Amino acid sequence: MNVLITGNSSGLGLGFTEALMDREAIVWGMSRRGCPLKPRYDDVIRDRQQDLGDLNRLAEGLDRLLSDCLRLDLVILNAGILGRIQDLADTDVHDLEHLMRVNVWSNKLILDWLIERQLPVDQVVAISSGAAVNMSYGWGAYSLSKAALNNLVRLYAHEMPDTHLLALAPGLVDTAMQDYLCGEVDSEEFPSVQKLKDARGTEHMPDGHAAAEQILDCLPRLRDQSPSGDFVDIRQL
Ligand SMILES: NC(=O)c1ccc[n+]([C@@H]2O[C@H](COP(=O)([O-])OP(=O)(O)OC[C@H]3O[C@@H](n4cnc5c(N)ncnc54)[C@H](OP(=O)(O)O)[C@@H]3O)[C@@H](O)[C@H]2O)c1
Repeated sequence: MNVLITGNSSGLGLGFTEALMDREAIVWGMSRRGCPLKPRYDDVIRDRQQDLGDLNRLAEGLDRLLSDCLRLDLVILNAGILGRIQDLADTDVHDLEHLMRVNVWSNKLILDWLIERQLPVDQVVAISSGAAVNMSYGWGAYSLSKAALNNLVRLYAHEMPDTHLLALAPGLVDTAMQDYLCGEVDSEEFPSVQKLKDARGTEHMPDGHAAAEQILDCLPRLRDQSPSGDFVDIRQL
């Protein structure tokens, strides 16, 4: 099984990579820090340190990373940033632009690259969030980017008839993103954060590896049963 994963240096993306090592996959990964599992699985992890926000260099990075790849069973568009939880009115538009580059436009360029190179791809899963539809107070930049990601996936489903695409909300996952949300955001000011604080340390917020196993187990069924382009929240399955 050949899998491309963005953002597999930590959190959920690293969890996917760990889980896929047990499933005897070959993983091509892209992140700025690089995948820490690379030394241990040198023969089956191909890794490229790349800033996905640098859109001008992305195609060249993909050319180098995937030069010997003939087909991909699965592409997990996982890399993402949260930005600050704050009023949208206080959010600098340049910070919004950066967030959109990483969370949305880099994924557009990856899909464009796959189409242009005519690399056969069976399934694409873009890691979205409940924030794509909740529009809770304070989540402005992130919510806008994940809503755009959902629609990007829906639109590309028309243009990639031989590939099954999904935007998937992974539920709460105990990663660096939660360090900020649970540790630094005031839940009196932004009440939606309280349920994250309550979930941390419980079964309602698994670590990246456990969450990845759960998602990977669902993917064959989702590929068969959900229309390409759909948004699925794993908590509703
Ligand atoms: N944690 C949750 O509860 C939760 C819930 C819903 C959705 N999600 C989504 O799950 C995905 C993974 O997040 P996570 O929770 O695992 O957070 P994380 O631990 O912070 O991981 C984010 C990953 O994205 C990569 N990344 C960020 N900016 C990048 C850039 N400019 N270029 C290349 N890679 C970049 C990071 O790699 P480098 O820093 O090495 O570049 C890292 O591997 C995200 O899309 C997030 O929105 C998470």
